[in-house]
Amino acid sequence: MRHFLTLADYSKEEILEILDLAKQIKDETKQREFKDYMPKRTLGMIFEKSSTRTRVSFETGIYQLGGIGLFLSSNDIQLGRGEPMSDTARVISRMVDMVMIRTFEQAKIEEFAKYSKVPVINGLTTEYHPVQLMADYMTIQEAGLDKDLVAAYVGDGNNMAHSWLNLAAKLGFELRIATPKGYEVDADILAKSLEMAKLSGAKITITNDPKEAIKGATVVTTDTWVSMGQEAEKERRVKDFTGYMVDSNMMKLAQEKAIFLHCLPAYRGYEVSDEVMESSQSLIFEEAENRLHAQKGVMVWLDRKRDEV
Ligand code: CP
Ligand code: NVA
Repeated sequence: MRHFLTLADYSKEEILEILDLAKQIKDETKQREFKDYMPKRTLGMIFEKSSTRTRVSFETGIYQLGGIGLFLSSNDIQLGRGEPMSDTARVISRMVDMVMIRTFEQAKIEEFAKYSKVPVINGLTTEYHPVQLMADYMTIQEAGLDKDLVAAYVGDGNNMAHSWLNLAAKLGFELRIATPKGYEVDADILAKSLEMAKLSGAKITITNDPKEAIKGATVVTTDTWVSMGQEAEKERRVKDFTGYMVDSNMMKLAQEKAIFLHCLPAYRGYEVSDEVMESSQSLIFEEAENRLHAQKGVMVWLDRKRDEV
């Protein structure tokens, strides 16, 4: 049995295999020929943070695969009143076939996985957002930019930046990350990614200069400056991120064929301008739709792995 907790646990071949599956499922979805890949399977979806895309895509995805999703907000289940993760995992995983969790520390999802009898998927933690990166890379493939990919991530050294690091390190593409001073990526995650990059040939550059990162890039991406749980730091962060907005002038530094990606929700006028969001280079809604297809790929892949053992 496998879990999907971080891309660091996956090989390049496995990541590409899941994406191939996602593409096949997307084609069938478009033709409305839903195959019952996971008949009568139940996906438990535990949310300790808000969500639009993750919730809708997982719930719709499992339904289209022939199963059903259970939306379990921590406000409503006993986890929110202090029931331990380990007990919650042992109870829920005796009843459902797969679990998706959105929570705070990565250690919490690891704790759940340790006690779970069924595969666990990371639907975002403070450290990582691996399912988002599967959709992002699928969008890059569809745009025909996966060969000679030069990705520039401009913004906070957060969960998105960390998952970009993992993806680049595994697949072997060039990634430049530009953050303001004091908002750099986690040193341990970076060190592990650089170690993995030695095997894949990925070129990873860390800088405090957004222009240096974007120059000649084929994919430009960013994320909110204020992640969930950091609301109290908003004022200070907005000040510290001055000069990091991806606007049209920044996009001009990238290659002409470059695309703009954002996991959403986006805060126009902060990390990205309205003009870039609405430009023809912006593939943000294709990217959002691909959450559905990529996650169906992840669920089917994990379900098959479970049957194999
Ligand atoms: N990108 C993303 O995970 O969106 P939600 O927070 O709406 O799920
Ligand atoms: N970095 C953001 C991503 C939201 C999808 C957060 O963690 O809030």
